Amino acid sequence: MKRRDFLISSCTACLSASAMAGLLSGCKSTQYVTGHLNKDGLLVDKDDFKINNNDYRSYIVVRHDELKFPVCIYRFSDTEYSAIWMQCAHQGAELQVAGAYLQCPAHGSEYSNKGKVTNGPAERDLRTFPVTVNHSQLFIDLRKQ
Ligand code: FES
Repeated sequence: MKRRDFLISSCTACLSASAMAGLLSGCKSTQYVTGHLNKDGLLVDKDDFKINNNDYRSYIVVRHDELKFPVCIYRFSDTEYSAIWMQCAHQGAELQVAGAYLQCPAHGSEYSNKGKVTNGPAERDLRTFPVTVNHSQLFIDLRKQ
């Protein structure tokens, strides 16, 4: 194999490996759950955040067939969470989680992990819901904003 061909094939393999690693780490970091929907809101197990005995995910995404958009729940501590409706406040596209913030794929608006708009074109904060924490579950009250 000529040196030029070797370099091209090596770089292609490296790029593919790093792209795959990025994709896999992105998949690994997002935990999707369905939760339990009742007439007032969503019940989610606190264990859904658990990675192992000492580690917790910083967020999970609740996707339920009866909800038009997912709800992202950020965990700040065992007793502090935020629940955010993942519909962009600009023109209504579904948001994506990008670690500690939410991003809109349509026009690039960004929001904090508490639903505050940090980058336009959106001018309004996201819809958020009160979270009640009990021993093993979270209750996301969908009646309130
Ligand atoms: S719909 Fe989200 S930025 Fe436009």
